[in-house]
Amino acid sequence: MNSANNSNSNEKALEVRTHDIPIADAMTEFMKIGWAPSPLTGVKPHPSIPFTKIRREKLSKQYPGIRLIFPSGSLKVRSNDSDYPFRAHSAYSWFTGIISLDCVPDSLFVMEPNGSGHDALLFIHPRSPRDSDEFYKNARHGEFWIGRRMTLEETETKYGLKTEKIESIEEFLANKKDTLIIRGEDKHIDGLVAENEEKEKEFLNFTSLMRIVKDQYEIDEMQKAIDVSVRGFADMIRVFPAAISVPRGERVIESAFYGRARLEGNDLGYPSIVASGAHACVLHWIKNDGDVLPGDLILIDAGVEVESHYTADITRTFPVNGKFTEAQRQIYMIVYKAQQAGIAAVKPGAKFKDFHNACMVEIAKGAAELGVLPISVEDSLKPEGGLHRRWQVCGSGHHLGIDVHDCAHARKEQYAEAVLEAGMLITVEPGFYIQPDDTLFPEEYRGIGVRIEDDILVTESGAKILSNALPRHPDEVEAYMAKLLK
Ligand code: GLY
Ligand code: MN
Ligand code: MN
Repeated sequence: MNSANNSNSNEKALEVRTHDIPIADAMTEFMKIGWAPSPLTGVKPHPSIPFTKIRREKLSKQYPGIRLIFPSGSLKVRSNDSDYPFRAHSAYSWFTGIISLDCVPDSLFVMEPNGSGHDALLFIHPRSPRDSDEFYKNARHGEFWIGRRMTLEETETKYGLKTEKIESIEEFLANKKDTLIIRGEDKHIDGLVAENEEKEKEFLNFTSLMRIVKDQYEIDEMQKAIDVSVRGFADMIRVFPAAISVPRGERVIESAFYGRARLEGNDLGYPSIVASGAHACVLHWIKNDGDVLPGDLILIDAGVEVESHYTADITRTFPVNGKFTEAQRQIYMIVYKAQQAGIAAVKPGAKFKDFHNACMVEIAKGAAELGVLPISVEDSLKPEGGLHRRWQVCGSGHHLGIDVHDCAHARKEQYAEAVLEAGMLITVEPGFYIQPDDTLFPEEYRGIGVRIEDDILVTESGAKILSNALPRHPDEVEAYMAKLLK
């Protein structure tokens, strides 16, 4: 089987491209000769190896005798023969440690039962050999088209996993046994594995929940992602004058952050939200096509994903011209106090939802002080009240890691209702969003949206703000902007 057949992506569009030039037989023959070996130098074991080994041991104990399959996922077609940049599935990345530059679409990681444990096997599409014509003819997989992949041996050395060619997977899977797969990532392989919806759901839940407490490798990678993102925020502030000077200035700011993400990381962890003026009241504003006007606030929610796939998730709200107005500062301080209260509620033994509740007390108080809450703060904070949530309809944070909304397949009792433990990594991100048509507020408050979001590690003694390098208090924000813009 050619792994091209294994792909969910649009191979047909590549086979019949009208602009390709036919290759003569003489050329085909000529391309077979005259190539020197070109091994990679300096391939050494990756620092994730001791950590991924522990993760796999835990997994193995949970599923004795069962074959476990984690697809890397396939290329996803953007249009015709253009694909989106490849990003491996998070579970595949987490159990193998393979960094983005080494991830190959249509790979599989398999935990194969062996005695009382499992063997860890990787099936990949290795570098194109010179004895087939793939290396120069295949625009999706060939080395002349997309660059060199690692050989099986190089992959084994770097990631400490026994590695085989993906071509052998059908034969391997023909030896049927009880199997669980992360379904929906690789159509071809899905078709080779009998479905058990209930058990696969439990498998997805278990493997997602395994990531809820971070190991030291993950904490270090998260700190890297956050540090790069903080530099990206500085890059964005530096281009505020340029953003003001053109229409659709939000795009100027968005691009500045993307530049940092590509320079020092793999990509964005999620589409950046660059929301100037009333766009800040749209929770997931990613069109980013608005003008950036002096006198407005701009809310920016952005995170760099580093090569290991870990991502930051940080939000700051800046006055475009460097100085908050009275009304802007008033709303900002409600959110600031809410976040301070939320962060103070993050400690081992506290419930996950406690920090949201702590934030909500300040949001409700703030609304009451502004005279817009029609009931008492006390009544609003009751489950049957909640009127303050008109100005923050969403939650106040989530687990963060290799996915921006990490551990997404955890059940409620394992997540919102669960107790925080040292090593968990969460965001605390309250906001106050006054829609431009909210007539409960006087004119000068309408269209103000503020969110402050930081990435918090639960520690033995409380919490550590990993994104603390980026100023939060409005005085510090103003001073920081003045320094960057002088
Ligand atoms: N950036 C997505 C979030 O804050 O959850
Ligand atoms: Mn977030
Ligand atoms: Mn965010």
